[in-house]
Amino acid sequence: MSIRLGVLISGSGTNLQAIIDAIADGSLDASVGLVVSSRPDAYGLKRAHAAGIPVMALSREVYENPLTADEVIAGALRDAGVDYVVMAGYMRKVHEPVLLAFENRVLNIHPALLPSFPGAHGIADAFFAGVKVTGVTVHIANENYDQGPIIAQRAVEILPDDTLDTLEARIHEVEHELYPATLQLLAEGRVSLQVNERGRVVTVIDKV
Ligand code: GRF
Repeated sequence: MSIRLGVLISGSGTNLQAIIDAIADGSLDASVGLVVSSRPDAYGLKRAHAAGIPVMALSREVYENPLTADEVIAGALRDAGVDYVVMAGYMRKVHEPVLLAFENRVLNIHPALLPSFPGAHGIADAFFAGVKVTGVTVHIANENYDQGPIIAQRAVEILPDDTLDTLEARIHEVEHELYPATLQLLAEGRVSLQVNERGRVVTVIDKV
C-alpha cells in the first residue's frame, strides 16, 4: 500500500532527499504530499521544489504560540491527505494538534541509539562520552521528547581515529538508508504496537 508522507524540516533536508530518492528508485512505496519547514530559508525547501512537492514555510512569528503553529501544520497536513508525518531534522517540538491528528503516525529520526543521548546533540554527546558504539534510531514521536516507541535502530561503531566530523558523516549515511527502509515497513503494514509485560508500548515488526 502506498503511503502519503508529510515531511517536517528545518535545515539542509538530506533525509528528505533520501526519501525522495528512495521513492524515485522504487524502494519506497510512498509519495510526499507536503514539506513543512520551520524556517523560510531552509535548503531542504529547494530540494522539495526540485522534486515538485508542495511546501509550507513558517516564519519565526508563527511559532510564538507553538500550539497555534501546530494547528496550522496539522490542518495543512490533513488537507494534503497525509498518512504519516515524518520529522527530518525538524528543530521544533510537535505538540498535541499534530500528535492527536496523527496519533502514532508521527515519526522521528534521532542520530544516536535511544534512549542513550537524546536531545539536540546526539552525535557529539555520544562522541565525547567516549562510547564505542552509537547509531541511529527511528521512532514514533509522542509527547515525551525522544522517548516514543522505537521502530528501527542501526549501530555505528566509533573508530579510534574518528573525529566528530567523520563520525557525523557515517551517521548521516546510515540515516539516509534507515529512514526510507523504515518507512517502507510502514508502507507494507508490518509495524504494529503492543503493550509489553512492563506496560510499555513497543513496536512489533511482522516478518514478510
Ligand atoms: C539529522 O542528523 C537528524 O537525525 C537530526 O537532524 C539532522 C537532519 O539533517 N534530527 P537533514 O536536515 O535531514 O540533512
